[in-house]
Amino acid sequence: MAVKRTPFIAGNWKMNLDHLQSIAFVQKLAWSLADAKHDFADAEVAVFPPFTDLRSVQTLVSADSLPIAYGAQDVSAHDSGAYTGEISGAFLAALDCRYVIIGHSERRTLHGESDADINAKVLAAHRHGLIPVLCVGETAEDLEAHGPSAVPVAQLRAALEGVDGSKGLVVAYEPVWAIGSGQAATPDQAEQVAAALRGVLTEVFDDEIAQATRVLYGGSVKAANIASFLREPNVDGALVGGASLDIAEFSSIARFKKHVGA
Ligand code: 13P
Repeated sequence: MAVKRTPFIAGNWKMNLDHLQSIAFVQKLAWSLADAKHDFADAEVAVFPPFTDLRSVQTLVSADSLPIAYGAQDVSAHDSGAYTGEISGAFLAALDCRYVIIGHSERRTLHGESDADINAKVLAAHRHGLIPVLCVGETAEDLEAHGPSAVPVAQLRAALEGVDGSKGLVVAYEPVWAIGSGQAATPDQAEQVAAALRGVLTEVFDDEIAQATRVLYGGSVKAANIASFLREPNVDGALVGGASLDIAEFSSIARFKKHVGA
């Protein structure tokens, strides 16, 4: 069934760029895309700055009506209360965030987030009208032991427990071994897992939601390899780390259709 999913190019800044740098960056990114006559129907573009940048990004995007979406890199599972250091989905919604990254492998490994924590965060995002960009992916050891899709499929199933699929979701397949390594998955590998993840969406929700949900690939994406991923039928965009911090490179990734003549 052919359903048109607008490709999604998302930049996860991780812990880079302070609020002043974020203003200059987003302004220049918008100029760069405008100069290139980027058609946002070809690819939606979003940035995911650190929490402390979000108010600045909101002010700029709203004042200049920039066609760039933004979101946070994490959200609390709780709505308010005695949770020192946490940020509520309500606060993100108040800053007009459209998206929030949940379950990035760096949060799973460095901050010990479990599948249950991630599920609670997806539910929290939905309570506040935010669209989760839910990350799943296997380590090199998982790949060796269980093959390519077993771990991401299990992570997705666990994260979707009790979730209402009509509230919006983006899934990002990010093999841990490909993140920041310079060694991206092959387009075939990304497609195989993306197709399996879409199968889970059909099972958990229904075919209509599965066909409407964007499944991204992430891990060492660059302008030079983006088009090969987007050619795959089940890969609908990319979650970009390092290359999203370089304006020319990121804007070139967003313009993948034009610069490869695809
Ligand atoms: P790199 O693009 O730097 O490999 O990072 C991917 C990533 O973790 C995006 O969330």
